[in-house]
Amino acid sequence: MRVVLATGNVGKQRELAALLAPQGYELRLQKDLGVAAVEETGETFEANALLKARHAARLTGLPALADDSGLEVDALGGRPGVRSARYAGENASDADNVALLLRELVGVPDADRGARFRCVIAFVRDAADPDPVVAHGVWEGHIGHAPKGSGGFGYDPVFLPQGPWQGRSVAALSDPEKNGVSHRALALAQLMAQLLAPPPGSGR
Ligand code: IMP
Repeated sequence: MRVVLATGNVGKQRELAALLAPQGYELRLQKDLGVAAVEETGETFEANALLKARHAARLTGLPALADDSGLEVDALGGRPGVRSARYAGENASDADNVALLLRELVGVPDADRGARFRCVIAFVRDAADPDPVVAHGVWEGHIGHAPKGSGGFGYDPVFLPQGPWQGRSVAALSDPEKNGVSHRALALAQLMAQLLAPPPGSGR
């Protein structure tokens, strides 16, 4: 099925395409179809994911998939949250955002550096779809004291996930390692389960 993917983020494009191709979804990137990004005015990840999916579907006539994601840091009351991409300013780079985060956490001990990546993925069959499919994923971890690793994007160099990785940041994981457990992978698995579930009452 051809689906337009409403994101301009190259890192996310790569991850989602790798996860969806085996399921038979042919992803077309919205920018390749002449669709400019819509302003993310929602106050929640879900509102922004739906806003982006409906916008892409409206302008292309294709079913659309969008994700919205970000980092929530306990010691900052859940910030940067929906503002993760623009934490250090509208045109902030990943390095600017990471530097600001580390500055805000100076003096915060390890025990209080808990954080999570959160992702919401929305799928709409068309722009006015009254019953969109919405799925959530969370990846728990904590924020390190300095950037580590050279892969990934965004806050990957300072996010140390829970699990078997012994203090490695996400930027030090391979793509398959990250794609097996990330917030985006979990949300996508949940989305696929919902899309592939038999309709209620079908007897399947
Ligand atoms: P979005 O494009 O509005 O979903 O913004 C997501 C922002 O959250 C990104 O620009 C990153 O700063 C951050 N983010 C989301 N997922 C990840 C991830 O897997 N690794 C690192 N940063 C992430």
